[in-house]
Amino acid sequence: MEITTAPAEVDLTDATLVVGVLADNQPAPGAEEALAGADAGLLELAKFEGKSGQVLTLPHDRAKSVLFVGLGEEAGFESIRSGMGNAIRMVKTGRAVTNLNQIPIEGADRAVVEGAALGVYQFRAYKTEGEALPVESLELIGADDASIGQVLVTTDATNLARDWVNTPALDMAPETLAERIRTEAEAAGVSVEVWDHDRIVEEKLGALLGVAAGSDRPPRVVILGYHPEAAGAHLGLVGKGITFDSGGLSLKTAALMEEMKDDMSGAAVVSAATIAIARLGLPVRVTTIVPLTDNAVGGRATRPGDILRPVSGPTIEVLNTDAEGRLILADGLGLVRRHEPDLIVDVATLTGAARVALGDKIAAVFGSDSEVAATVLEAASRAGEHFWELPLFRDYKKSIESDLADLKNISGSRYGGAITAALFLSSYVDDDKWAHLDIAGPARWRETAGEQVKGASGVGVRTLVELARALSDQPNP
Ligand code: BES
Ligand code: ZN
Ligand code: ZN
Repeated sequence: MEITTAPAEVDLTDATLVVGVLADNQPAPGAEEALAGADAGLLELAKFEGKSGQVLTLPHDRAKSVLFVGLGEEAGFESIRSGMGNAIRMVKTGRAVTNLNQIPIEGADRAVVEGAALGVYQFRAYKTEGEALPVESLELIGADDASIGQVLVTTDATNLARDWVNTPALDMAPETLAERIRTEAEAAGVSVEVWDHDRIVEEKLGALLGVAAGSDRPPRVVILGYHPEAAGAHLGLVGKGITFDSGGLSLKTAALMEEMKDDMSGAAVVSAATIAIARLGLPVRVTTIVPLTDNAVGGRATRPGDILRPVSGPTIEVLNTDAEGRLILADGLGLVRRHEPDLIVDVATLTGAARVALGDKIAAVFGSDSEVAATVLEAASRAGEHFWELPLFRDYKKSIESDLADLKNISGSRYGGAITAALFLSSYVDDDKWAHLDIAGPARWRETAGEQVKGASGVGVRTLVELARALSDQPNP
């Protein structure tokens, strides 16, 4: 779908006009005329009351139809974005025109573009029946093309991450994802290096190799570099890239395994964010490390009790092969530190415990200090993504000490699993400034609502782009 601007006197023939309605059918700015012209009986019959989540299409004299979007009590960034997401899927004409962006709140243009571009997303690569949504273009009355373009860079990157994650593991082996990332990153002017199995052996990434040992599909490491001339700060990103998590010999149950093609969401998110940062030309250097492997159960699979040596940092006794994300991240963190970034951020669908703690719509953030966590939380809030801080509570560190190695990969307790996983990772960053984003909950939307479309979410992309923006203002985070 194409998103552009339109003049105030735009021709509405054959278009759907999208306008906002507040609770109790009070017109939002720009909806007065359309609402006054609407048949009150029809509104009542349809039980349309301007509640958030409601949409209603009625015929209109100037346009083919008018689509009323319920915004609830107050027109704010979230209600406009979510309302536009619902509306865009309801448009039955090829052309849609809206003035929702003219509602006087900060970021209204962005809310409309994000809602539309994210809400219209569909993953149809494997559908042989049915049709794509009819809407082909959306025009924002009185907006600015350049600012629309800026927003679209980030929504496109979010949708790119969604495509990668939605693709079945059958068609998304480590080498496939590495090549997909290569193609997109190179097109954005980002440098790309891909390490194959032999190189990974040569570089002694023992933890990644331990996870990869059970799969016939060889691992990869992707290294992305965005190096603008006027970079203020250097951001190091690491993303968990498990292309399928069976659990390994500590096999998952069938129900828990169903969604495990999502387990490369962190990899998709950091890669797509790097691409967006480069496309936006933000003055921040970025180095991104993406370790990619299946976690499978072949004859050479790592056994509980085996001990692995990551590229640097503590040795690891693997007591549960399903706690594999932290293993490949140990190597990823070791690699990114060689590039001496000012701030390291890893993104991972790391623990079911994070999902238990915060549910399906909120991601967990841990920071090496409270300032780092606050910086990420502020970026997330500007991006309109939901994150919550969990503590790196050092007392729990004892629970991951191993009898035989330096660390073990599980704590032995069901409780506080997101925290012990984060503490494990903290052992591989020393005193560096570092944040860990556990997106196990919101990596997937479970239903379609507003700008959220059932399936892979791309959560994290927009927060990382906002974080890069913040770092470009503050050279020393
Ligand atoms: N990939 C999973 C975490 C996960 C769970 C992501 C649910 C998305 C939804 C991870 O590798 C895992 O299996 N973690 C274990 C750790 C445990 C063995 C300590 C878990 O959370 O159960
Ligand atoms: Zn696992
Ligand atoms: Zn996993």
